[in-house]
Amino acid sequence: MLYEFTRPLLFALDPERAHEMSLAGLDMAQRLGLVTPPPSSQLVAARTVMGLSFPNPLGLAAGLDKNAAHIPALAALGFGFIEVGTVTPRPQPGNPRPRLFRLPQAQALINRMGFNNGGVDALLSNIRASGHRGILGINIGKNFDTPIERAVDDYLLAFRRVHGLASYVTINISSPNTRDLRQLQGAGELRALLGSLARLRDECGQAQQRHIPIAVKIAPDLSDAELDEIAETLVGEGMDAVIATNTTLSRQGVEGLAHAGEAGGLSGLPLRQRSLEVVGHLAERLRGRLPVIGVGGISDAASARAMLNAGASLIQVYSGLIYRGPGLVDEICRALA
Ligand SMILES: Cc1cc2nc3c(=O)[nH]c(=O)nc-3n(C[C@H](O)[C@H](O)[C@H](O)COP(=O)(O)O)c2cc1C
Repeated sequence: MLYEFTRPLLFALDPERAHEMSLAGLDMAQRLGLVTPPPSSQLVAARTVMGLSFPNPLGLAAGLDKNAAHIPALAALGFGFIEVGTVTPRPQPGNPRPRLFRLPQAQALINRMGFNNGGVDALLSNIRASGHRGILGINIGKNFDTPIERAVDDYLLAFRRVHGLASYVTINISSPNTRDLRQLQGAGELRALLGSLARLRDECGQAQQRHIPIAVKIAPDLSDAELDEIAETLVGEGMDAVIATNTTLSRQGVEGLAHAGEAGGLSGLPLRQRSLEVVGHLAERLRGRLPVIGVGGISDAASARAMLNAGASLIQVYSGLIYRGPGLVDEICRALA
């Protein structure tokens, strides 16, 4: 309700500035005790996925809280889980601004943030300070100036650092804003990367006496044959989940709109149909061998349910939150309860 009034003000600002101000406001409201999880978030049937027990299936997608600096406030919205990052081993500024654009007529965003983040050390100290007890995914990537042939080193380094504080770790190989990153989705590269990570995961897991789940986040811009190959590689390398999808390079559904020509990944409503197709295709192919986490264009109860019906075990939102506000969590949880 409140968001209906604040949204026009926020939308009058530069999108990235509005993002920062919204999170600062939410932090303050949470500290004042004004934000508490809606009862609906506790009513949805809990479910076990990747060996973890989720209080509800709706999560916050990666990229909104890249540095894990707002966990208590975001958790207070009622999410069943929160994914922070993408974090890279070393801090990096990301691309020059402006790098985030709204396409309100299409309820879409285009971003080319380029993994702007404070690095893994800052993220870890923020997580420790948060005292968070809920399910936390940490999404990891490579630094922009690490050559793609050395990408594995960055993922191993980041994994080694974050696994102790992560309920699960997401391997992001699908951002369109880091040069050549999506190459890592190719069969040979993917097998090498995930094989190394799986070995490290088992080593770290033994020391911690727990299985550390790994999810792999993929792009929507893949053919059916590529999706099938990725699905089999993920199973073969002992991964725990696939997250589908990241933003798209397609501009279908936004042709002619202001900012449609900006470089970067498109998210929100125009991505919904493609993400649903990818999730449906993967679920069909995997037949329960690996859970699918569905993300892309979820902006109301019906689209959340459609993603679950397509075969997703869990779902995540980002752009829907920008257009619909924090009440979206309650709306979806109520409908699923
Ligand atoms: C501004 C912005 C930044 C993002 N940053 C990341 C990121 O750092 N890592 C990542 O895995 N996904 C990132 N994403 C992708 C989202 O997590 C999500 O996969 C995508 O936006 C589709 O979901 P949506 O339509 O609900 O936004 C970002 C999305 C946006 C809009």
